[in-house]
Amino acid sequence: MDVYEAVTSRRAVRGFTDRPVPREVLERVVSAAAWAPSGSNIQPWRVYVLTGGPLAELKKRAGERVATADPWDEREYEMYPPTLKSPYRERRSAYGKERYGKLDVSREDWEARQRAATGNWQCFGAPVALFCYIDRDMGPPQWADVGMYLQTVMLLLRAEGLHSCPQMAWSVYRKTVAEVLSPPDRLILFCGMSIGYEDVTVDYVRAARAPLDETVTFVEGSIPQALAA
Ligand SMILES: Cc1cc2nc3c(=O)[nH]c(=O)nc-3n(C[C@H](O)[C@H](O)[C@H](O)COP(=O)(O)O)c2cc1C
Repeated sequence: MDVYEAVTSRRAVRGFTDRPVPREVLERVVSAAAWAPSGSNIQPWRVYVLTGGPLAELKKRAGERVATADPWDEREYEMYPPTLKSPYRERRSAYGKERYGKLDVSREDWEARQRAATGNWQCFGAPVALFCYIDRDMGPPQWADVGMYLQTVMLLLRAEGLHSCPQMAWSVYRKTVAEVLSPPDRLILFCGMSIGYEDVTVDYVRAARAPLDETVTFVEGSIPQALAA
């Protein structure tokens, strides 16, 4: 698969079949993803790939927490700034409309939104989950490295005919994830990622993107007088 096709066909898939993913495919993906760049090559990601019994156990435990409305674990990082400024606020609200509007869930219906969100903790039916941790000493540049690593994983998954959904939602059940994975205390769970073959019967809306001139500026032409002096 061409890189452009991998990039444009990747999307957050929220419905997977139970078709198993061969271990050698997963190994191929994480072996190639290890070539992702990082500042000073410190490779600050620490990843667990879960399938079979351990994943079933995690889904069971998470399902029990959802069913009993167990409060979320206290946060180890803030998912978003407390007040999102323009244009991020508008983009977030457009995403909410796209995602929940499709499911016929209104903005005010918090409970229905929660129900729609519960698919997160069943990995949207996926047979594989990846959990990505980062050392708690790391700063913004290393978190960015981890993002590059995760996108590399997601693009390689496309090359294997697989889809994915990155999920910060798992961070609110991080203690349940830790019960199953027993990660070292020094690690923070950044996110999970559901992985599998897409269930093409699940309807979705392709998330739009901001017009290019809102996010990219080409600086070109002749050198401005002020700089040339
Ligand atoms: C770090 C990260 C965390 C995310 N967490 C969640 C999540 O918890 N649940 C979910 O359904 N989607 C999650 N998403 C998916 C985003 O909503 C999605 O990438 C965005 O709306 C753009 O849509 P697209 O990926 O389909 O193009 C996450 C994406 C990223 C990059």
